Amino acid sequence: MGLEKLLDAIAEQGWYVWDDFLTPDQVSRLRFCAPKSWQRARVGRQDEAQHISQIRSDKIQWLKESMGQPIQDYLDQMEQIRQQVNQHFFLGLFEYEAHFAKYEVGDFYKKHLDAFRGNENRKLTTVFYMNPHWCAADGGELKLYDLNDQWIETIAPTSGRLVVFLSERFPHEVLPTQAERISIAGWFRTNGVTENRLDIAR
Ligand code: OGA
Ligand code: MN
Repeated sequence: MGLEKLLDAIAEQGWYVWDDFLTPDQVSRLRFCAPKSWQRARVGRQDEAQHISQIRSDKIQWLKESMGQPIQDYLDQMEQIRQQVNQHFFLGLFEYEAHFAKYEVGDFYKKHLDAFRGNENRKLTTVFYMNPHWCAADGGELKLYDLNDQWIETIAPTSGRLVVFLSERFPHEVLPTQAERISIAGWFRTNGVTENRLDIAR
């Protein structure tokens, strides 16, 4: 079963590509919940946050349960993953935050780590793709590297595919896309204390 393979892969290599995580029908229902309005993505958090279009050019919208039943179902599935991962590893994952992301033609996200200063408590990254008819010429691949910057894998944003990896261990980038590319990126977090205050997920 997918969940067992996920747990094995996380234990063995720290990342996993789960194809057909959702059926094409479920994908289209979820994609239908994507917002009509988008914000420019930011780098950094809260008051530090600034637009850095040289680093990433996608647009985002944070997931809310009120966006519809397919979103609630998706969040329920993430909750199941959270519980299973917590039972098997001692990551102490506490909360999940996720956003839709839209990359239009030419958009990219340069190599980065998801756990950066101010975001140290991101432990496990998920990216889910909703791009029917994706083909090699569309580009937009996710490239994973190890902490020595050695290339590990190139992953196409194929519809129904869920990618999961340890946030602190895998620098990654999104190559420029040649077609509109819709995804949900999410992070399981622990609660930590940052600058003397309890850092609660949004
Ligand atoms: C991110 C990210 C990867 C992707 O949003 O932090 O790296 O394939 N996304 O969309
Ligand atoms: Mn990332």
